[in-house]
Amino acid sequence: ITERSFFAIKPDGLQRGLVGEVMSRFERKGWKLVGLKMLTPGRQLVERHYEEHADKDFFEKLLDYMCSGPVVAMVWEGHNVIAGGRKLLGATNPLEAGAGTIRGDLCTNAGRNLVHASDGPESARREIELWFSREETVQWGRAT
Ligand code: CMP
Repeated sequence: ITERSFFAIKPDGLQRGLVGEVMSRFERKGWKLVGLKMLTPGRQLVERHYEEHADKDFFEKLLDYMCSGPVVAMVWEGHNVIAGGRKLLGATNPLEAGAGTIRGDLCTNAGRNLVHASDGPESARREIELWFSREETVQWGRAT
């Protein structure tokens, strides 16, 4: 199925100069970029984004980290991009992320894991709506 999912390159990804590397892996996979912007998110946005983690002991740290610098927010569209995108990222804990995945190849720490991906259709819809207005995502024309 063709679907859309939300991804964010986190502040460590920008700091380490890995934006191109991450986006290139999505492009090579065959997904289409339909939304893209860069912003330093406010606390309220990140609180809402991560509301399901509000009771975790790392929640405050997570908010500080996500608001510490610019992030690249993206919407990608394509075949199985929700589950497939999470596969491309690898497990949340880079120790468990396989070689060949973004986290497995490029980072070492669960709290600094480079990229976020929606974890299912419901969160994809919610997160796209939270980070992007309707006009900020595009439809690709058919190549003629
Ligand atoms: P993400 O996939 O964006 O969703 C939840 C985030 O919480 C996760 O990536 C990590 O950045 C963060 N996280 C998960 N576990 C820990 C942890 N043990 N310590 C700090 N942050 C964590």
